[in-house]
Amino acid sequence: MHYSSPLLLSLLLLLLSVPAIFLLVTPRVLPPKTLPSIPDPDEADDLALFRRATISSSTALPLPLPRPHSPQKIAFLFLTNSDLSFAPLWERFFRGHRHSFNLYIHLDPNSKLNSSLLTSSFVGRFIPAKATQRGSPTLISAARRLLAAALLDDPSNAFFALVSQHCVPLRSFRYVYRALFFPDRGRRQRHKSFIEISDSDPDLLQRRYVARGDDMMLPEVPFEKFRIGSQFFVLTRKHAVAVVRDRRLWKKFKMPCLKARNDSCYPEEHYFPTLLSMQDRAGCTGYTLTRVNWTESVGGHPHLYGPEEVTRDLVKELRRSNSTYSYLFARKFAPTCLEPLMRIAETFIFQD
Ligand SMILES: *[C@@H]1O[C@H](CO)[C@@H](O)[C@H](O)[C@H]1NC(C)=O
Ligand SMILES: *[C@@H]1O[C@H](CO)[C@@H](O)[C@H](O)[C@H]1NC(C)=O
Ligand SMILES: *[C@@H]1O[C@H](CO)[C@@H](O)[C@H](O)[C@H]1NC(C)=O
Ligand SMILES: *[C@@H]1O[C@H](CO)[C@@H](O)[C@H](O)[C@H]1NC(C)=O
Repeated sequence: MHYSSPLLLSLLLLLLSVPAIFLLVTPRVLPPKTLPSIPDPDEADDLALFRRATISSSTALPLPLPRPHSPQKIAFLFLTNSDLSFAPLWERFFRGHRHSFNLYIHLDPNSKLNSSLLTSSFVGRFIPAKATQRGSPTLISAARRLLAAALLDDPSNAFFALVSQHCVPLRSFRYVYRALFFPDRGRRQRHKSFIEISDSDPDLLQRRYVARGDDMMLPEVPFEKFRIGSQFFVLTRKHAVAVVRDRRLWKKFKMPCLKARNDSCYPEEHYFPTLLSMQDRAGCTGYTLTRVNWTESVGGHPHLYGPEEVTRDLVKELRRSNSTYSYLFARKFAPTCLEPLMRIAETFIFQD
């Protein structure tokens, strides 16, 4: 037998090449590797919660215009995956204003909290929480959960301030309250959300935009509408409802990033500014009230202040903005900053 006949030879070659073709094609058929996504049961729970919050808020009467001594409250939303080390400082901040604030805490269930560190305002203020991690949309979900819980809990919550365990107040409660409710020295005007909304760095935006794959944000979020802003913000009730009600943009933002683009995966810096600028840009100031120091940042982490840096001059410097407003909060502070901060709290920070 002559196996070397041209026909048989080509047939044999073809057969031999089938596995090779398969090997070449398979990696393209498999979905690309991605970072962690949101677990389905968590998403289902959230959907039910957000629906309840949306329905309860849409039937509420419109809030009256702000008046001095009005009972409207600030909801402080603490997003944390560790101890709330600055609880004593916040406690001092809240003292004497029991009727003007509410407090809600989202604690990552995988973290161990030393509850003996909690002060009275924080006790019993934990909302049902789910695991969070960097480089995933779970931080967005946690913030939305806090907004929904606060919307449902008290119709007099008029502003919603998101803070983390590393955030500290730079001003007294009275000052913060007036800055939010009467930003224009008491003149009656529509409340605005304080959230940074920026498109000043197109190269960075472009990298962030394609973190889930090219064109993955289309058609809901065209590149021209994509924005970046601070992860921490203060929203009006109207905007809190808009965020909790949204399903259209969330469908895109909840998609996990590609593993190969992990260094562009910060969805929590984009979802809120993009959504609110698309829905009501005029209702947002476009700046944040939370000062953060990005000088020499490493791996997406801003400068972490240590106790030796805490002075009156630092607080003065952190309050200062290039605009007419003053920063009200700052991050990130190491837990060991509590002592030096408490030392200047009574005599300086809350003296305004
Ligand atoms: C919790 O904090 C208290 C007060 O600082 C401390 O004495 C205690 O050792 C801590 N407990 C744990 C388990 O870390
Ligand atoms: C992205 O992944 C690479 C390789 O796994 C890792 O070295 C790097 O630290 C990651 N970057 C971020 C920002 O997570
Ligand atoms: C910001 O952080 C840098 C170190 O990364 C520090 O040198 C600088 O003093 C900080 N700026 C302010 C205003 O705290
Ligand atoms: C103010 O503007 C200067 C110059 O543009 C900049 O270096 C500085 O970081 C800005 N400060 C704040 C608080 O934004």
